[in-house]
Amino acid sequence: MRFWAGLLLTMLLVGCGAERPDPVSFAARSPDPVKHGERVALVLGCSGCHRADLAGQKWSEPEFGTVWTANLTVAAAEFDDA
Ligand code: HEC
Repeated sequence: MRFWAGLLLTMLLVGCGAERPDPVSFAARSPDPVKHGERVALVLGCSGCHRADLAGQKWSEPEFGTVWTANLTVAAAEFDDA
């Protein structure tokens, strides 16, 4: 809620200014969809569990027993680009 109130206030203040700032852009976003996907997987933590190369790894806690994160390179072959 505070975030939205702050955003609204910022928008009002910016709207009242004599000069408009440049449009906000997310400089880290790559126009290459593969690079963008790689970054999203990192930011969302996918590569933390599935490894940087997404090949999966042993991911066990004693109370869960033995668990492996899926090898997403195998799973990815079953999906089309859409
Ligand atoms: C907390 C660890 C963890 C994180 C974070 C995580 N995963 Fe997983 N993921 C797993 C585990 C464990 C499995 C295997 C589950 C199973 O086999 O029942 C799995 C399975 C999958 C599968 C199924 C693969 C198959 O062969 O059926 C996909 C797809 C997947 N994850 C994608 C993602 C994506 C995309 C993200 C990031 C948005 C992500 N995962 C984040 C732990 C994680």
